[in-house]
Amino acid sequence: MTAQGLTARRGGPLRGGVRAPGDKSISHRALILGALAQGVTEIEGLLEGDDVLATARAMRAFGATVDQLGAGRWRVGGRGGFSEPADVIDCGNAGTGVRLIMGAAAGFDLVATFTGDSSLRGRPMNRVLKPLGRMGARWFCRAGGRLPLTLQGGGLAAIEYRLPEPSAQVKSAVLLAGLNTVGETRVIEPEATRDHTERMLRAFGAEVAVSDAGGERSISLMGGQRLTGARIVVPGDPSSAAFPLVAALVTPGSEVTVEGVLLNPLRTGLFETLREMGADLAYTNVRDEGGEPVGDVTARHSQLRGVDVPPERAPSMIDEYPILGVAAAFAEGPTRMQGIGEMRVKESDRIALMAAGLSACGVAVQEEPESMTVIGAARGNHPVAGGGRVVTHGDHRIAMSHLVLGLAAEKPVSVDEPGMIATSFPGFVELMNGLGGEIDA
Ligand code: S3P
Repeated sequence: MTAQGLTARRGGPLRGGVRAPGDKSISHRALILGALAQGVTEIEGLLEGDDVLATARAMRAFGATVDQLGAGRWRVGGRGGFSEPADVIDCGNAGTGVRLIMGAAAGFDLVATFTGDSSLRGRPMNRVLKPLGRMGARWFCRAGGRLPLTLQGGGLAAIEYRLPEPSAQVKSAVLLAGLNTVGETRVIEPEATRDHTERMLRAFGAEVAVSDAGGERSISLMGGQRLTGARIVVPGDPSSAAFPLVAALVTPGSEVTVEGVLLNPLRTGLFETLREMGADLAYTNVRDEGGEPVGDVTARHSQLRGVDVPPERAPSMIDEYPILGVAAAFAEGPTRMQGIGEMRVKESDRIALMAAGLSACGVAVQEEPESMTVIGAARGNHPVAGGGRVVTHGDHRIAMSHLVLGLAAEKPVSVDEPGMIATSFPGFVELMNGLGGEIDA
């Protein structure tokens, strides 16, 4: 991967079978729970992207041993808790990393200072600080709950917390803090978000109660539970698999299979939406791997049509709206994405950057505070214009989405700062080119 820009141009069809990199959400959690647990955790298929490597370094700083045994194979030696780190914890670009680690650290009698790159230092931490503060944690930080931030943990009380915004990161931070309280911690979700923390806590021996009532989900655990090291197999990340799969859907003559993709229903909103758009998207070899549903996903070139994506689907595809915007550009008619305000507080303001990038590629987009409509102009084989030079503000998913667009558009598409792609999808360019794509510096 290069520090210069990258350009994607239209070539032949994309064909072949690949494996997506390990799931980012599950990779962070495997390292963090491994460090909190007593004993050895063996991880297979860990995502070796920059975000997760920052979490691995952080777990060492909190006292665990973390060793790479081979490609994707890692061993964590947990000490049954965190000790005080001797230096600042730099979480790089990773919102998931810093928010989950702050939650876990809040349960221990220690002081830790967290920072990150310029994107992470601009993102709101108040959403985790509010519940952690109610539990008894203390901190100093920049205005607006921004990093760098110094957290003082320990002496926490259990709380019941209703999530004001659907966020698996906030839910997870509260549950991880709740492990080291007296009493029962309960998180109530008006809309269910990815449940990897709950599933993995059970794999580490914790008791976690989950119930659905009145359209809400409630997750509770008792404080004082001890975790024991576990074996974790990390499935392929559906958020990464989305890029080669959508590239195949929009490039004539293509057929691509991504093997071993996580198919947890709280993560498959994009696949559901693409099928509603008329995508030929098939799941095969569906199986259970380590408590998560996994399968192979095959996409064949399809003429897509625009659809309305309901707001309640947002939590199950929140990271996939950028690539959905690309699929929508090649569809016939408008695709309306509603209830997606959370996209504005990701690695960048993703609604603004998608609207700007797609417009630069000749695609009509309407942007509103909490929604975005992409007007697909496809009529038969009439392609999207392309030709844009896209500003990514260092956001990996904005970069990969526009490169996919460039593989099927009339004119080449360039993106700046492609080095950030390695935060979630190391080897993206090589994988896409191996399928027949034309992406180069
Ligand atoms: C994640 C949750 C989501 C998602 C992020 C990963 C997680 O963030 O956007 O990429 O692993 O819990 P929010 O919880 O803020 O929605």
